Formats: sequence, C-alpha cells, structure tokens
Amino acid sequence: MVRTRLMAAPSRGRVRWMNVMRTGVLHLLLLSACLGQDPEDWQYEECKLSRSGPPATIVAIDEESPNGTLLVENMQINGVAEGPDRTISLSLRDNHDFWVILDPATQALYLNSTGRVLDRDPPSYIQSIVVQVQCTNELIGTVILHEVRIVVRDRNDNAPHFQQPRYYVAISELTPVGTTIFSGFSGNNGATDIDDGPNGQIEYTIQYNPKDPTANRTFDIPLTLFGSVVLRERLNYEEITRYLVIIQANDRAPSQSDRRTATTTLTVDVLDGDDLGPMFLPCTLVGNTRDCSPITYLASVLELTEPNKTNPLNVTPPIQAVDQDRNIQPPSERPGILYSILIGKPASYAEYFSLNRTTAELMLLKPIDRELYRRFDLVIKVHS
Ligand SMILES: *[C@@H]1O[C@H](CO)[C@@H](O)[C@H](O)[C@H]1NC(C)=O
Ligand SMILES: *[C@@H]1O[C@H](CO)[C@@H](O)[C@H](O)[C@H]1NC(C)=O
Ligand SMILES: *[C@@H]1O[C@H](CO)[C@@H](O)[C@H](O)[C@H]1NC(C)=O
Ligand SMILES: *[C@@H]1O[C@H](CO)[C@@H](O)[C@H](O)[C@H]1NC(C)=O
Ligand SMILES: *[C@@H]1O[C@H](CO)[C@@H](O)[C@H](O)[C@H]1NC(C)=O
Repeated sequence: MVRTRLMAAPSRGRVRWMNVMRTGVLHLLLLSACLGQDPEDWQYEECKLSRSGPPATIVAIDEESPNGTLLVENMQINGVAEGPDRTISLSLRDNHDFWVILDPATQALYLNSTGRVLDRDPPSYIQSIVVQVQCTNELIGTVILHEVRIVVRDRNDNAPHFQQPRYYVAISELTPVGTTIFSGFSGNNGATDIDDGPNGQIEYTIQYNPKDPTANRTFDIPLTLFGSVVLRERLNYEEITRYLVIIQANDRAPSQSDRRTATTTLTVDVLDGDDLGPMFLPCTLVGNTRDCSPITYLASVLELTEPNKTNPLNVTPPIQAVDQDRNIQPPSERPGILYSILIGKPASYAEYFSLNRTTAELMLLKPIDRELYRRFDLVIKVHS
C-alpha cells in the first residue's frame, strides 16, 4: 500500500534517494570486478573451460582411422597440467577399451587403435566413443568432468554382397514384353551392404555378358533401387532356351569412384509355350515351312479274323504324334496328345474299328466280311 502510493506520486526527495541507491549499486559492481583479481577467486576458474559454447566437446573421425589420429587438439581447460607451476591434473575416465589417449601437457586427445580396427560396421558397431576428461584443481582440490564425444563416421569400406551365388527363374516364351519376370532381390534377398547410409544402399544394373550377348538387351532393370527384372524383347523358345543375365549391385557412395560392386548371374530359362500344334510322325516338311506333308498309315486285316486274334492291328508306320512344343514346363501343364477317328469311309467303319485315344492303338471290333468291304479309309485326328 505504502509503496504503491509512493510510485503513483513520488516526491522529489524520494526520486533523488533512488538515484543515490543506483549509484551505490554501480560502485559495488566495480568493486566486484576488482575482487576478480584476487588470487583466492581465480583459483576457482581452474579446470573450467576457457572456451564458450556447449559444455561437451564433440568431434568426428572416420572409421578405420590409424592409431595416433588427433581427436581433440586442445581441450581448452583453464590451468597448467604439467611442470613446477602445475595447477591442475588431467586424466581420463570411462575410457572403455582404451580407445583414447590423453596428453596432459598439451591437453590433446589421440586415437589408440594399436593392433585393432575402429570399425563402425557390424559386428563391432562402434558408432561413437564417449570419455570424460577429469580435471582436478590442485589448488583447492575440486574435480570437474568434461565430456568428449567422438562420432565415428562411416567409410565405404564394405562391398555389396549377394545372399546367393546365383539366381534362377523360368518363364514362358509367351510372356508379354514389359512383364516383371524376376523380383527375387526384394526383402534383403538380393545384395546387402553393411555400410551406413548411401554407402550401404544398393542399385542393380544389367551388365553386358560376352558369353550371352543378347541378355542385356532382352532384359532390363528399370528401377535400379528395386532390382526387379523386366522382359524387354519377345522370347522364342525355338531360338533361345536359356539366358545368363549378369547383374551388378553397386552401393551409392556419394563419389562415383568410391563405389563398390558385386555381381551375380540370373539364369532365365525359357519354357515352351503351347504355340505350335501337334504333328504326326514321321514328319516330312513341306518346302521351307514348319508344316508336315500329309502322312498315310496302312494296316491289313485278314477277312473274318476274330478281333482277339489280331488286336491291336499292326499299323505301319505306327500312328504317332508329338507336340511341336516339345518341352512344355511344368510337365503337369504339358497337354496329353489325344487321338480319334474324325471321319471314315464307308460310314459303317465305326462298327468295325476303334482307336485308343491315348495310345493310338487301332482295334478291330468284329470280323470283316471281304464280300461286303474291301477297304476302309479313316481320317485320324490328333489334338493336344
Ligand atoms: C599409437 O598412437 C599413440 C598416440 O599417438 C602413440 O603414443 C603410440 O605409440 C602408437 N602406437 C603404436 C604401436 O604406434
Ligand atoms: C591401447 O589399447 C590397448 C588395447 O587394445 C591397450 O592394451 C593399451 O594399453 C592402450 N594404450 C594406451 C596408451 O592406453
Ligand atoms: C548391351 O551391352 C552392349 C555392350 O556393352 C552395349 O553396347 C549395348 O548398348 C547394351 N544394350 C542395352 C540395350 O543396354
Ligand atoms: C476269341 O473270341 C472268340 C469269339 O468270342 C472265342 O470263341 C475264342 O475262344 C476267343 N479266343 C481266345 C484265344 O480268347
Ligand atoms: C487305351 O490304352 C490304355 C493303355 O493300354 C488302356 O489303359 C485303356 O484302357 C485303353 N482305352 C480303351 C478305351 O480301350
């Protein structure tokens, strides 16, 4: 209450008193600056950092740095750590595995990798080293810890590695251009690289294979990060049944010259699609085509012979057909060849003959009277 009223209407005398107080405070500040020169007080400054900035000292070095690599040039701790005028003593704490060496005289830190490798990658996984520089103030006996964080940077010291020595896929010759025919590199089943960041990222490309010169134009990897293989040109089983596609994996180290690679072979077997019909054997090609000339099979039957004495009838050459797509895979998809009598003359042939659908054996059904029939013409059909 009293103060409020004074501020609302201060008298001249009151203002002057406040000015006097302010002058007093300034005097005290000056005095305090003078006291800083007092030996008693600077002793407290020993062991503190002389630099500004964050309390921890943070540096970065490459993995695999050689022994003796300078980590910190000068810790910038107030005090003298050696000699007759020594005011502080320095030592290391939490120096696990002795990775760090301290030179107290210069306050420098060095890497100790004698007889071992500072490896950031598996299985070591040393991604940072943290130690404490312990400073004991020898004048007043206090102790201060200064943290040092050493970040271990990745180097591209590992090449990609394929999980399998080779890869395999089988595709139909009828596969349309543009189809993804292989995605076996997904989910870490392709190449991996234990380096970090881009040094561990993989790109896939198809290389020219001198032993299979058409492979690199028949297949393509449009998205290099995924590595899926896409068909680029039509296949033809009758011309090429197997491709050996050389696939290279490289990491993505920022500098092209640092990139490391590995290669594998993708074997692509072309499976016969059912694009050609069956044909009767033996086949005599018509001119320059893939078509066979019509073939005639012959069989003779003695008149009045009992079927059980002559079946199956002896046909020359034996009735036989093959699928021209000789090797359809898998075999379960290979169509069975089926035979039948399409038509015959005279029309009563069906009473006398039957053809086994699967074996093409011609069977006599009942004895034939030569007075009635001298000749039958049967047209045989095969389909698959
Ligand atoms: C490793 O480096 C430290 C610090 O520079 C050095 O004192 C030491 O002799 C070195 N060790 C070897 C085997 O060179
Ligand atoms: C350096 O590290 C090795 C362990 O590999 C240790 O035996 C040796 O004492 C360390 N040297 C120093 C100076 O700390
Ligand atoms: C395949 O490799 C050869 C040789 O390196 C190259 O000349 C050709 O352009 C490549 N083809 C494709 C489609 O990349
Ligand atoms: C053949 O069939 C005829 C008529 O059906 C029969 O009489 C005969 O015993 C059979 N012969 C043989 C060897 O089975
Ligand atoms: C065709 O021949 C096969 C193999 O000999 C046989 O198992 C099958 O029963 C025959 N079919 C007919 C309709 O006689």
